[in-house]
Amino acid sequence: MALQPVRPAAPSDDKRWKLINANMRRNGYAGHALIETLHSVQSAFGFLDTASMRYVAACLDLPLSKVYGVATFYHLFMLEPKGHHACVVCTGTACYIKGAASLVQAVEKRYGAAPGETTSDNHLSVLTARCVGACGLAPAVVLDRNVLGKQTPAELLARIEELA
Ligand code: FES
Repeated sequence: MALQPVRPAAPSDDKRWKLINANMRRNGYAGHALIETLHSVQSAFGFLDTASMRYVAACLDLPLSKVYGVATFYHLFMLEPKGHHACVVCTGTACYIKGAASLVQAVEKRYGAAPGETTSDNHLSVLTARCVGACGLAPAVVLDRNVLGKQTPAELLARIEELA
């Protein structure tokens, strides 16, 4: 019986990695699925950070330089946010139905940063993700990796203010 290759451990126990792992498994951990895999990471987290890219490289058995090369070549990929804080508003179906657009608008209006942008003082980066794995808490936001559920614009702005 062939031995199963040992897969590296995910960067964290965040359940979004389960979705990404399922995606890689479906593609047989093939290197040609790199772009699709990076898409799935960005959809889940809103951006690609170093730990994510290292993990994807190890899982797909690709050099890290290749993963960086692809991630930086395509403008649709967003690397780690520049701001000191990151606000990832989930705009997946469940969150969208429950008002995610009003959260994005409120943050943009208050901070002048649209999704994919960082405030001029580098205080806050605003991002969107397609599902952060907390649909029961829709609309959900991940603020500096803390999941905030059932957010209203006022609540979210207050949470961001607390970061100051
Ligand atoms: S759609 Fe937002 S958490 Fe799933």
